[in-house]
Amino acid sequence: MRYVLNFKSNFTKESILAYKEALEKHPKKDNVIFAPPFCFLPLLEGYSLASQDISRYQEGAYTGEVSGNALKSLGVRYAIIGHSERRKYLKEDEVVFAKKIEQAIASGITPIYCIGETKEEHDSGRTLEALEGQLSFLFTFPQEMWKKVIVAYEPIWAIGTGKAITPNELEKIIAFLKEKIEVPLLYGGSINSSNLEQFKTLPHLDGFLIGGMSLKIEEVLSLLQES
Ligand code: PGA
Repeated sequence: MRYVLNFKSNFTKESILAYKEALEKHPKKDNVIFAPPFCFLPLLEGYSLASQDISRYQEGAYTGEVSGNALKSLGVRYAIIGHSERRKYLKEDEVVFAKKIEQAIASGITPIYCIGETKEEHDSGRTLEALEGQLSFLFTFPQEMWKKVIVAYEPIWAIGTGKAITPNELEKIIAFLKEKIEVPLLYGGSINSSNLEQFKTLPHLDGFLIGGMSLKIEEVLSLLQES
């Protein structure tokens, strides 16, 4: 199982150093992957690292962008692409995600591509259709390329709401997704230390993308112990 800890836009230098100090008392684990804001990536050197985004451009005159090569040189192994918060607040779409996925792969970074339905889509029974739509551009890439992607299924209505999907519903969606695209699959959306166990045993689920819980050092320490 992989656990990707998405800190989103949280922490300051002081608070992340305190977090790191607590982490250092525990052995590092390759499958527990930290995704801090860009500027804190070097502070977590030596841990498995993901960036929360990646530039769609290779490198050069793109003010404010962080290139795949720059990330790779910091030891970053994964890049989160297509998170629903970037779709919503930064209006990013599949055209942009395709370029970011290309850049990640070209730099030797594994893309973690996020998909998920809205509450309206979910409530009106259009979940599978929505997911299929978000995946479809991947198949314009050659197979050896899309095979390098990890897909994170994150129902938008479950992110940060405290209401995770039920294991039953997730099982059906995993079966659907695995049929569409044979790549590792993560689940994200209100995972916490009390509901994690019930999802861990689901067949064909390869891990989790975790937001809120990753800010709670005590919970992360128990995750490190148990994973
Ligand atoms: P959450 O966030 O665990 O706080 O619901 C998950 C995510 O946005 O990746």
